[in-house]
Amino acid sequence: MLTNLIDGRAIAEQLHAETYQRVAALLSRGVQPGLAFVRVGEDPASKVYVGMKEKTCKRLGFFSETYVLPQATTQDELLALLAKLNADPRLHGILVQAPLPPHINSATVYSTVLPTKDVDGFHPVNVGKLMLGEPSGFAPCTPAGVQQLLIRSGVVTDGAEVAVLGRGDIVGKPMAAMLCQKSKHANATVTLCHSRTRGVAAHCRRADILIAAMGVAHFVKAEMVKPGAVVIDVGVNRIADPTAKDGSRLVGDVDLANVQPIAGKITPNPGGVGPMTIAMLMQNTVRAAEQAIQA
Ligand code: GUN
Repeated sequence: MLTNLIDGRAIAEQLHAETYQRVAALLSRGVQPGLAFVRVGEDPASKVYVGMKEKTCKRLGFFSETYVLPQATTQDELLALLAKLNADPRLHGILVQAPLPPHINSATVYSTVLPTKDVDGFHPVNVGKLMLGEPSGFAPCTPAGVQQLLIRSGVVTDGAEVAVLGRGDIVGKPMAAMLCQKSKHANATVTLCHSRTRGVAAHCRRADILIAAMGVAHFVKAEMVKPGAVVIDVGVNRIADPTAKDGSRLVGDVDLANVQPIAGKITPNPGGVGPMTIAMLMQNTVRAAEQAIQA
């Protein structure tokens, strides 16, 4: 049996244990970290994700509350709710689950969350701090989770060739920004590939670390991977599967069965990046609470 899997669930549990200690320290000072979730509409994946995040809040001793708004909610109504949450001293973090309905401007929404409560790292102030390498900001949870997976699996990024597939605002762009910083656990040479990249397979084959976050089921094939490379699969894609109970199943951006024998290390999917996203959300929120009482 191959033993090159990076166990995201186990690494997320290490982080949760650290977060739990920090929650206990805050509680002993009379402060309970608080996180609000806002979900608009009935996107089935968003329901599942917010449900998992709520459960983790309970387990780690956070205060949390969830607002579920109808699909037809206006942007002004959503902004009014965010103003209320911004002003609520029980809340140190606010998470507006993406995607939002098309009639709502996401950029306006994410700019409305106070940067100090923006534990998702989507506010322009936090995006700017990430670019500048300013650690007081909040980094988006999924790329931050990938960086922790690399650190805690002993993968050296210094001087490494990294290919990031996908230029989304939530994963690809911040991932590239994070790993090219002149700092510990970064210092990589990053190539950001996207739908208009010519010769994407050649960029992938050059990579010591390949991070797939473009949202195309099983895009990364064995022949695109350099032997021994570290492969991180961020993708969550629903594909038809007549043998499954509901006729579909979730797969990543990497053809895991064929890539695993070639890779040095590889994330399973599920059980790789997903649990780390939640772990980083909890870390960001506990830091928001710590910073709030220092302010
Ligand atoms: N949708 C997919 N990933 C994320 C995330 O990290 N945060 C939020 N708010 N929504 C998402």
